[in-house]
Order: sequence, then structure tokens, then C-alpha cells
Amino acid sequence: MEFAILIAGYLIGSIPFGLLIARWFGKMDIRKFGSGNIGATNVGRAMGFRWFIVVFLLDALKGLLPTLVAKLMFAEESSFWHIHGATLVGAATIVGHMFPCYLKFRGGKGVATGLGVVFVLAPLASLIAAVGFGLATLIWRTVSISSILAAAMFCIVELILLKPHPFTTDNIALAMFSILIPGLIIYRHRSNIVRIFQGSEEAIGEPPREKK
Ligand code: G3P
Repeated sequence: MEFAILIAGYLIGSIPFGLLIARWFGKMDIRKFGSGNIGATNVGRAMGFRWFIVVFLLDALKGLLPTLVAKLMFAEESSFWHIHGATLVGAATIVGHMFPCYLKFRGGKGVATGLGVVFVLAPLASLIAAVGFGLATLIWRTVSISSILAAAMFCIVELILLKPHPFTTDNIALAMFSILIPGLIIYRHRSNIVRIFQGSEEAIGEPPREKK
């Protein structure tokens, strides 16, 4: 049963909303546009801000809802799954978004889905990271820079907040999540990082350049 929920989390996370929205409403393959990413930023780049919002919300919800359901389902038990189940299901949705079985395991970067998940798992750290994202966007006006900084900030803040320390039996899954998921998110931004250092990463509102 528990493993079925984990698989369900992965399959829900795998739904490529950005690709589907761009195909249905923009009549395009988003993988052939801009950064080639299937996420909200690239859909917004191709189709405008309101489609960024639509894809961002859908991608965030596909992380948030399964994690919330797992948290509620495992609330009564006093077991491994009670303590760690929601964290594992949340991680499965993010892995699904990044490596979707429907797209030959080539998916997105996990920022919106990750935000939806950590909103449930670690609300305070997620709010602090979201504020960091907002401030970074005001300063650099570049979504990838904001995403990378917010992921790193979430990791540091959550590890500090886990009491008495991150590596107790009860905290270990969330501690590993807080290290591995931001690490994966930053790794998925490696082409952005190259462009940031080359000075060729687009700021918000700049016309898209062809790149992969
Ligand atoms: O969440 C993805 C964002 O940080 C970067 O997207 O399309 O500029 O690679 P993109």
C-alpha cells in the first residue's frame, strides 16, 4: 500500500503540465523553444506571463497535493511511514517531474513542484526560501539565479531548523531530502549556470535566445 502511494506520487509528478499546456494552448513543442525546459519559466517565455502562472500553479499543486494526502493518510499510524512517508512521497513527485516516465525521463528542473512539496513538509523554511527567491528576482531579474539561490537557502535554513539536530532518527528523511533535492535542483540548472557565468542568461522580459 505504502509503495503504491509512492509510485502514485512519482506518476503524478511525471505529468508534464508545461509540455501539455504549450501543446494544447500554444500549438508548440516547448522542448524546442528557448531553454528547452518544460517548466513554467520557459512556457512563460514562449506564451506570456499568465501561462507562466498557470504552469507554475499546476506544477506546484502536483507536488503539494500528493504530499498533503500522504501526510494526512499516515497521520494516525506510529510507524516509519508516519514519520517519513510524506517526505518520501514529496520526493517522489519531484523526481517524477525531473525524470518523467512519459517523456523518456527527460523532464524539468523541479522548482515549482519542489516549492509545493516543501510548503507542506517544511513551511517556515519554504517561506524563507520563497522570500529569498523574490528578493533575488528583484535584484537580478533572472529566474534561474533566483531558483538556484532559493534551493540553496532552503537547504541551509531547514538543516538549521531541524531540532535537536538534522540527523536524528526522526529527522533523517527530511534532512536527506533537504540536501539531496536542492542538490538535484541545482544540478538540473547546470546549463543555466554555464550561461550565467558566460553572461548570456536572459533576464526576465528579454527576448528569448535559442539555446539548449
Ligand atoms: O525553474 C526553472 C528556472 O529556474 C529556469 O528555467 O527555462 O530559464 O531554464 P529556464
